[in-house]
Amino acid sequence: MLNFKQIPITYLVIVSLIATLTSGCANTGETRQFQSFDSDWRFYAGEIKGAERPEFNDSSWLKVDVPHDWSIEGLAHSEAKVEDVTELPIVRGGWKFNNGDDTLWKNPEFNDGSWQTVKLPATWEEHSNYTEDNVYGWFRRELTIPADLQGKDIIINVGKIDDADETFFNGVKVGGLGHFPPEYVSAWDISRHYKVPHEIIHYGGKNNIAVRVFDGIQGGGIYNDGTRVVEGIFESTSPGGSGAGYINAGIGWYRKVFKLPRNIQGKCVFIEFDGVYMNSDVWLNSVHLGNRPYGYSSFQYELTPHLKFGDERNVLVVRANVQQPCSRWYSGAGIYRHVRLTVTDPVHIAQWGTYVTTPEVTENEATVRVETKIRNQSTSVQEVMLETVIKDDTGREIANSSSIQKVEAKSISIFEQFIKVPKPKLWSLENLRLYHVESKVQTNGRIVDASVTHFGIRTFEFTIDKGFFLNGKHVNVKGVCEHHDQGSLGAAVYKRAIERQLEILKSMGCNAIRTSHNPPTPELLDLCDRMGFLIMDEAFDEWKRAKTMYGYGRFFDEWSERDLTDMIHRDRNHPSIILWSIGNEIGEQESADAYEMSKRLVDICHREDPTRPVSSACNLAESADKNGFSKSLDVFGINYQLPLYGALKGKAKLIGSETASAVSTRGEYNLVLDNGSLKIIKQLNNQCTSYDDSTAQSYLKAIKNAPWFAGEFVWTGFDYIGEPSPFPWPSASSYFGMVDLCGFPKDRYYLYQSQWTDKPMVHILPHWNWQGFEGQEIPVWSYSNCESVELFLNGKSLGEKKFSDTKNLHVVWNVPYAPGTLKAIAKNNGKTVCTDEVQTAGAPAKIVLSPDRNKINADGEDLSNIKIEIVDKDGRICPNADNLVKFKIEGSGVIVGVGNGNPVSHEYFKANERKAFHGLCLAIVQSKRERGTIRLSAESEGLQAAEVLIQAK
Ligand code: GAL
Repeated sequence: MLNFKQIPITYLVIVSLIATLTSGCANTGETRQFQSFDSDWRFYAGEIKGAERPEFNDSSWLKVDVPHDWSIEGLAHSEAKVEDVTELPIVRGGWKFNNGDDTLWKNPEFNDGSWQTVKLPATWEEHSNYTEDNVYGWFRRELTIPADLQGKDIIINVGKIDDADETFFNGVKVGGLGHFPPEYVSAWDISRHYKVPHEIIHYGGKNNIAVRVFDGIQGGGIYNDGTRVVEGIFESTSPGGSGAGYINAGIGWYRKVFKLPRNIQGKCVFIEFDGVYMNSDVWLNSVHLGNRPYGYSSFQYELTPHLKFGDERNVLVVRANVQQPCSRWYSGAGIYRHVRLTVTDPVHIAQWGTYVTTPEVTENEATVRVETKIRNQSTSVQEVMLETVIKDDTGREIANSSSIQKVEAKSISIFEQFIKVPKPKLWSLENLRLYHVESKVQTNGRIVDASVTHFGIRTFEFTIDKGFFLNGKHVNVKGVCEHHDQGSLGAAVYKRAIERQLEILKSMGCNAIRTSHNPPTPELLDLCDRMGFLIMDEAFDEWKRAKTMYGYGRFFDEWSERDLTDMIHRDRNHPSIILWSIGNEIGEQESADAYEMSKRLVDICHREDPTRPVSSACNLAESADKNGFSKSLDVFGINYQLPLYGALKGKAKLIGSETASAVSTRGEYNLVLDNGSLKIIKQLNNQCTSYDDSTAQSYLKAIKNAPWFAGEFVWTGFDYIGEPSPFPWPSASSYFGMVDLCGFPKDRYYLYQSQWTDKPMVHILPHWNWQGFEGQEIPVWSYSNCESVELFLNGKSLGEKKFSDTKNLHVVWNVPYAPGTLKAIAKNNGKTVCTDEVQTAGAPAKIVLSPDRNKINADGEDLSNIKIEIVDKDGRICPNADNLVKFKIEGSGVIVGVGNGNPVSHEYFKANERKAFHGLCLAIVQSKRERGTIRLSAESEGLQAAEVLIQAK
């Protein structure tokens, strides 16, 4: 039976429950109660019949707690594995090819004798030097089907096609992925397996296959034979493709059995999901409560009429359907955010029912407007008293207000109160002063509901000519775009993992987050309020024009108003949020009805929250400008498009909603000896050099030179799973981060730190282990926020370089390689202020473990992130070490994830071992719900082992 928690309002008298069973929802005189519904679920991956019925036997299902991401756990079924039907690979071999487009070419009798003979797989750039964009081409081949398959259907494996195809077998269309223009959608990295019905097959004879292909940009054609390679949770033919990081999803079911005490009877009971990815259906005791397509929306269902009490079981069932490809990045799958059961009196504050704004703020006084939606679910009209108390962050009462209003039966009334706060303490990035509103709802002299809502008092403004101001003070938005996954932990929410991410970003000087491209988990917003980040809260990555085949486009018409409204209702009290974004790189920027479509969404934002400006991240700013899309926006978000920074000056309030997209791999430099000289290769063996910061630099400089911009959101702060651009398989996670998938800074992190912080810092790259390159000139770069840097190799000065002497944001020396110590000394006014050094390491000898925290909460949620370094006998980090490290954990903790930041690694994230990558890997330890010591030990063949103790308190 459940134990309920009272909301933390100490003065509330907890009246014992008296069940009065007059209607489904009767007044019992008790305040709001909530219960985490995170534990004791059962999970099944795949489709299954009848699982929504309470009597269904789930005893063989996996026991899980949520937040849970079944994809990262490797539980998803492979959709590439086809039924018991013969699959014929058809890509390899001779084909005929012709560029252009003609529907007659699908016919088997068409004579393709004049067409070019090509060998596949190969892009048409390779086999025909066909390099234009937005073009069509056709491939044809013959295929003999063995007579012994007579009467059977077959599957043809048409491989991967860049970008969209229609495939015909003997003139009949048997498949096609992606969409052709005008609403073109790429499916460039998705394997094609098309079923051919026996009726159209000539067994024992020749058959014709014709493939019509459209290519948007780059590539084009049948470039990959679709061979299925499975390595851990990664599958080369995963329908999610590179966007999803080649990790499968599919369908999953969750069931949870619970009992409720009889004294709950007569109360209103709700189940609240912070997010289920995606297209979820929820049942209670066989009753379908609803469907929620968008996996990033928070939602609740009322359970009241369907509940059972006492010894009777209630069965809550959730089905999530993640049809891939549905996302351009790794989405995860399942109940990946928190779940709560909330019990209220029939008269209660509605979901997200408290809305606090500060219409007037001066140094002397702030006017706080509190709007409260009170819901009366009882069958009679109620006289409701709402008492609202404002307290500051020390818990001191500042002001209060009481209002009495009648609320009709089965309806909602809105209470509006204006409360003055004298000498308000403003929320700013430096002073995170939060106030809170305590709301108490009374009927018949009894408190029946209560809630606490945090808010901040601050003013802000975007200007057309001078950028952004917070409390009247100019603030340059130094932001990053972030996807929601937490590397090795997948999409499942771990509050501490998000907090760590923000700590790392903050130490780089970052002060803003764009929740690209979806509503975030609520924990992120709480943390940003408390840690000092500004937020661009983004709703969508696509409207009607789809970017992926099973993306949001399918749901836009029916759901966009609801999803956007819910996001705003949930989030609008957070002082950190300064912008609503109605979408990222929306295809409709180019469409004729662009203005109507964007205006509709902007109006929804204004209606639900008139206090914040609305933006959209536009990558086609010129079209958006011409056809009115941007006219509807309060702040014009510009993605990339550097040349427009000047051109748009004075035309709108502007922000660099997405910039840079620089790529690099931590620890990779791609230095190769070519004909006796050293060269930096940008992309080598699926890794990107860390010397490449040119796009990052260009945007940093452009933003500095365009003070009419509010600042920028760089793509991206952290690496994320999926979108391993510029590479396809085997790369599986991104290269865009300033920080890798484990939270280890790349060199590029220090570029931003040098531009975004004032506390003196200096950084040099590369590492200093270049055996075999003795005497070769190695480019040594330094980032610093000081005036100059002097470089020393083994104590000998190689000269001092001033930043004022270069157009770059780094200084460079070409240093003939000799092993030893390379040291950078940064100076201001000729005085040393900070240093950095790299040393040539010997052979790997030892393991060093460094936890980010030695003490964690014994709450079953908290984390310690343990950095594992491979060092030589003298403790110097070995920059090329890739030793396999095996972990053992004892005591009050478990390992919830391991990683190393290598985008090409196909090792499991949920494991007790990990190879180092450039000398580092990470183990993430979570406390159990018991106090005690956690002992993590790490060993690796030939290395001195290490262990670390963490206290769970
Ligand atoms: C942008 C897009 C991002 C990401 C990025 C990669 O255009 O908005 O979601 O795909 O490109 O460079």
